[in-house]
Amino acid sequence: MSNKNVLIVGGAGYIGSHMVKDLLQAGYGAIVLDNLSKGHRDAVPNGIFYEGDLGNASLLDKIFSSHKISAVMHFAAYSLVGESVQKPLVYYRNNISQTIELLDVMLRHDIHHFIFSSTAAVYGEPIKLPIREDHPCHPTNAYGATKLAVERMLADCSLAYGLKYVSLRYFNAAGADISGTLGERHDPETHLIPLILQVAGGQRKSIQIFGTDYPTPDGTCLRDYVHVSDLTQAHLLALESLLSGSDSAIYNLGNSKGLSVQEVIKTAREVTGHSIPVIASNRRAGDPAVLVADSEKIRRELGWKPHFENLKTIIETAWTWHRRDQVKLKN
Ligand code: UFG
Repeated sequence: MSNKNVLIVGGAGYIGSHMVKDLLQAGYGAIVLDNLSKGHRDAVPNGIFYEGDLGNASLLDKIFSSHKISAVMHFAAYSLVGESVQKPLVYYRNNISQTIELLDVMLRHDIHHFIFSSTAAVYGEPIKLPIREDHPCHPTNAYGATKLAVERMLADCSLAYGLKYVSLRYFNAAGADISGTLGERHDPETHLIPLILQVAGGQRKSIQIFGTDYPTPDGTCLRDYVHVSDLTQAHLLALESLLSGSDSAIYNLGNSKGLSVQEVIKTAREVTGHSIPVIASNRRAGDPAVLVADSEKIRRELGWKPHFENLKTIIETAWTWHRRDQVKLKN
């Protein structure tokens, strides 16, 4: 147990809200900053909540002056691969410029521990699989480019100002807290698993498969799906490691299993009992064919061990949340 406070920027979003719950459960104090542009106020029932932008320097000043904060976790980026290709400047402004403000104010307040939500999208099209952290980084979309730029900034701040950071490169976050009270809620939804579950729940008629001619066994993209609660457990380990004086580090977070879009749909059919009609469509811009993690480094160095490795279990937790969310929306 710890009585230390953590600032969770983007704590009302999908992964951030799971993080708040798990930090509180682990005994930390949780202070959330979120502008609610993507997140939901009701996803943060506990902890202290501030509404505002992550780059709002006066609000950040107020937060850091009012609370003794030991570390900052940053979940507040825009994160849609396709959208980032269409609107790169929106991504560069939000994901880079605003993060500069956050780091600047936090360092002025002498806070030197930072945990960053990075992404597999920093790698681009892999030349060696599974992908290790030392794989070359050549992002194929603006989203990945912005995350890589922040990682570079963190390394420079580490040298110049003694910042200690952990950058966690998530592969495909999926699933929901087992309590069924938190889950994935984007508007508009663009992610594969929630869209499939919307078909199973009767809110849409079919799922499009973006590309059936990739150089993969069934022609559809392979991704490495990792449960959101396994991601939050990795953050807790990273936090403990930084607070106990460890050096900065970069880690991949994935299950090292590449699953195709077709395989995800098949598993969702088993879980939901719905036929889930599909429409074969064109490739989506910016999508690499295969993204599969080698996450040996965080297992070895921090003892991370995912508990929800099986895709069926991941989809079951998402389905439980999805059905409850739909009941709530109807009432
Ligand atoms: N897909 C479809 N149909 C859809 C939606 C998605 O076929 O309607 C496909 C995509 O083309 C991709 C796969 O399903 O091959 C997964 O797509 P998602 O949109 O669910 O996720 P992404 O792989 O695009 O991106 C996610 C996160 C990113 C992160 C990336 C790393 O949103 O932040 O995983 O793997 F960078």
